[in-house]
Amino acid sequence: MAIVEGDTQIVCYVNPALCQLARRSSKEVIGRPFAEILPAGDKCLLLLDRVYRTGKSESHTEQEDAAPHPLYWSYEIWPVLAESSEDDRPAGVIIQITETAPFHRRVTAMNEALLCAAVRQQELTEAALALNTKLQAEMKERKQAQEALLRSEMLASAGRLAASIAHEINNPLEAVMNTLYLARASVDRPDSAREYLEIADGELLRIAHITRQTLGFYRESAEATTTSVSALMASVVDLLQSKIRSSGAAIEQQCEEHLQVMAVFGELRQVLANLLANSLDAVGENAVVKLRCSASRSPSTGRRYIRMTVADNGRGIDAATVKDIFEPFFTTKGTVGTGLGLWVCKQLVAKNGGSIWVRSNTDGKRRGTTFSVVLPGAAIQAETGQKLGKSCARL
Ligand SMILES: Nc1ncnc2c1ncn2[C@@H]1O[C@H](COP(=O)(O)OP(=O)(O)OP(=O)(O)O)[C@@H](O)[C@H]1O
Ligand SMILES: [Mg+2]
Repeated sequence: MAIVEGDTQIVCYVNPALCQLARRSSKEVIGRPFAEILPAGDKCLLLLDRVYRTGKSESHTEQEDAAPHPLYWSYEIWPVLAESSEDDRPAGVIIQITETAPFHRRVTAMNEALLCAAVRQQELTEAALALNTKLQAEMKERKQAQEALLRSEMLASAGRLAASIAHEINNPLEAVMNTLYLARASVDRPDSAREYLEIADGELLRIAHITRQTLGFYRESAEATTTSVSALMASVVDLLQSKIRSSGAAIEQQCEEHLQVMAVFGELRQVLANLLANSLDAVGENAVVKLRCSASRSPSTGRRYIRMTVADNGRGIDAATVKDIFEPFFTTKGTVGTGLGLWVCKQLVAKNGGSIWVRSNTDGKRRGTTFSVVLPGAAIQAETGQKLGKSCARL
């Protein structure tokens, strides 16, 4: 922008932008005729003359075909009339010259940047889609591997169960063989013989009981059914009798009679058997393992829940270890443990619509570990008149 005055069009003000355009300093320009700033014949000078002649403002825009983009020059010239003068001719003029090419460049640059961003966005979307597909395939593979692992661990645990049942049957079978031998040797003493036969009878009843349980295990349906929790606990304690005996632990069972859960009996038995086996592995002297069961109702939904707990006074699990115990193959038992017990428990509990929790202390009066399994409760047959069954046994 420039302000010129007088007939001779002397520059009295010029801004830095115009100086830059004219490639001169303000000192070189101020006090000189405006015509010296621009090349002779410049459109702006022609307009300036016209404004002086007519006393009216003029504006003009022209395009210069500069590479790579056209430049736009616009000129605005306003006359400044002297207040006191009677002359119509202006005392000076204000000249505004604008070069609009930088704006174009900025717009073009911005357009190019937007285009790049759009292309990049497209690339990122495609990469995200590819990643997503890969991730989904990996998740599917992982799920299949987990299911295969669960199936194989269930088979392995059925194998372990069979071995422990064979072990349980073997003891009374040996007793039967011994007592029959003694009975045969006591034919001349009928009272003794009768006593031996009664012992044999008792042991055979025990074998029949174990066999019934085993057959029940294999015949039961894979559908969730109404399952009695106290029967479940009793069957788990029965199954692990020899392990309980060799650990020397006292087993306390406390369960409200008639409490029932909706679950697959065999799966829930496997969960409780794994938890009880872990407790028996963890306890030392004066060992006590408590199996408890209670019912509660969710205050928000009113739904009925059954909580089963297996609590021991064993060595406990430290904070660094506890975060890993539900991971597959995590064990602190070396080659003796597979590290799949708790992982299987978690899967089976989740499959039956429940959740599993652990609380543990490694020292002090509250040393020991408590696992809680919370499952949806089944409608109970007789909610009133519930009895609290409590039993304690050191086998
Ligand atoms: N009641 C418990 N007291 C102390 N530690 C426990 C208890 N229950 C589980 N743990 C810890 O959690 C680990 C994982 O248990 P999990 O049942 O998954 O495998 P495991 O018992 O080692 O092997 P497996 O069950 O195949 O015999 C155990 O090795 C043990 O360190
Ligand atoms: Mg285990």
